[in-house]
This record gives sequence, structure tokens and C-alpha cells, in this order.
Amino acid sequence: MNILFMGPPGAGKGTQAEKIVNEFQIPHISTGDAFRAAMSQGTPLGIEAKSYVDKGLLVPDEITNGIVRDRLAQPDCDKGFLLDGFPRTIAQAQALDGMLAELDKKIDVVFNLVVDRGLLLARLTGRRICKSCGATYHVIFNPPKQEGICDKCSGELYQRSDDTEEKVGTRLDEYSNKTAPLLDYYRNKGILHEVNGEQDIHQVTAEISSILRGQS
Ligand code: AP5
Ligand code: MG
Ligand code: ZN
Repeated sequence: MNILFMGPPGAGKGTQAEKIVNEFQIPHISTGDAFRAAMSQGTPLGIEAKSYVDKGLLVPDEITNGIVRDRLAQPDCDKGFLLDGFPRTIAQAQALDGMLAELDKKIDVVFNLVVDRGLLLARLTGRRICKSCGATYHVIFNPPKQEGICDKCSGELYQRSDDTEEKVGTRLDEYSNKTAPLLDYYRNKGILHEVNGEQDIHQVTAEISSILRGQS
């Protein structure tokens, strides 16, 4: 099954992706994670991406499309994949259709995690991520058992550089202007499912998982 997660910054895409890829045993492809990995390694891609990510702006389409094209061609994507945070512009969606056609694949289902803008700021400024395994926590909504330490691997938790109030504002504007219009692209294909992302984390997972089990 080839799955796509959409939704504004902080809607819960990464949190839900962790659970769904574990259940369905498919790779999790997050362009945001790919940029952060390149940024922390200081590669040329990372240096270029940083100038956009740190401002809360979208990275240009050509750069982003190249990453996804390479990743989708890997053999582990043959059993299915979950795209998180890509595509985010109409041009990226069209490029994705082209890449998938070349590989004789298609997107089977798109989930839009719906969360009110007012909740997103609190979610993002309280988010903490494990340096070692990437697991996501929230200081209030999903705290680790021990403050600052990952439950799964005992790694150190950190805060993303773009999770400040100011950058969250820019990210939400980028989402409204460039990404939200994409929902109609998938709605028109008849594969978009809207999920209430304001429910408890486990309820959201249960809803997505039941739709996916109904499809396979
Ligand atoms: P990316 O890393 O994709 O960031 P994003 O879209 O802003 O989304 P987030 O990761 O912030 O939110 P999420 O939906 O994953 O929420 P999470 O599960 O963590 O992209 C970062 C940057 O990279 C972009 O700004 C851009 O510069 C660049 N980029 C990436 N892709 C690109 C593309 N395609 N084109 C161009 N540029 C691109 O949850 C958030 C918090 O809420 C957590 O603390 C979590 O514990 C908590 N939470 C989650 N669910 C619930 C719940 N149900 N109830 C209570 N709390 C919850
Ligand atoms: Mg994420
Ligand atoms: Zn960890």
C-alpha cells in the first residue's frame, strides 16, 4: 500500500507515521527528516536546505523532488511506502505522479490530519524529539517517562530549530498558501480521507489503521 500523509505543521504526521509504518512494515519517507539529517551532517544539500528550513520556508521543488525520486527507486519501496510531508506544492504533486508512473506505481490513499490552527502552536513549541531514534514526544500531551530522555532508546531529547513561535507562524502561512490547495488535487482523485487529528493519539492511529485494513 502506498500512503500519503498531509496536514499542517504539528498535525501529527510524524507521530502517526511512526505507528503505521511499524504496523504495516513499510518505509517511512519524510522529506523534513531527510533535510534535518543532511543539515546535521553538513552536506551540500544540508547547507542549502538549512537556509530555507531555518526560516520556516519550503525548500525549492527541484531539490525536494530529487530526494524523493532517489528514495522511491530503492527496492524496499516495492512493498509499499508512507510519504510524510511530500508533496507540499502542486508542482511536487505533479512531479510525484511522473516518478510513480515511471516506476509503475501510484498513491493508493491520502490522509489529511485536520487540526485547528490554534492548537498547532502549542503542539509545536512543546515538541521534543529523540536525537538517536527520532521518536517524537510532547512536554504536556505526550511526555516521556523521564524528562529529556527517550522511553524507547534512552537517547537525549532536543527541540527543533524551527519550532519557535516566530518560525511556526511562517510555516503555517507556507502551508495555507502552497500546500492546502493540494488537498483538492487528491480529493478530485477520490483517494482523500479526512481524519480528525484533534483526537487522542491512539484514536487517530486506530482510525487510520482501520481504513488501511479495509483497503488491503
Ligand atoms: P517537516 O519536518 O515535514 O515539518 P512540518 O510539516 O512542519 O510538520 P511537523 O513535522 O512539524 O509536524 P507533524 O505533523 O509531523 O507533527 P508531529 O507528529 O511531530 O518539514 C520541516 C521543514 O522541511 C519545512 O518547513 C520545509 O522547510 C522543509 N520541507 C519538508 N518537506 C518539504 C517539501 N515537501 N517541500 C519543501 N520543503 C519541505 O506532532 C507535533 C507535536 O504534537 C508533537 O509534540 C506530538 O507529540 C504532538 N501530537 C501529535 N499528535 C497529537 C495528538 N493527537 N494529540 C496531542 N498531541 C499530539
Ligand atoms: Mg513531522
Ligand atoms: Zn530514542
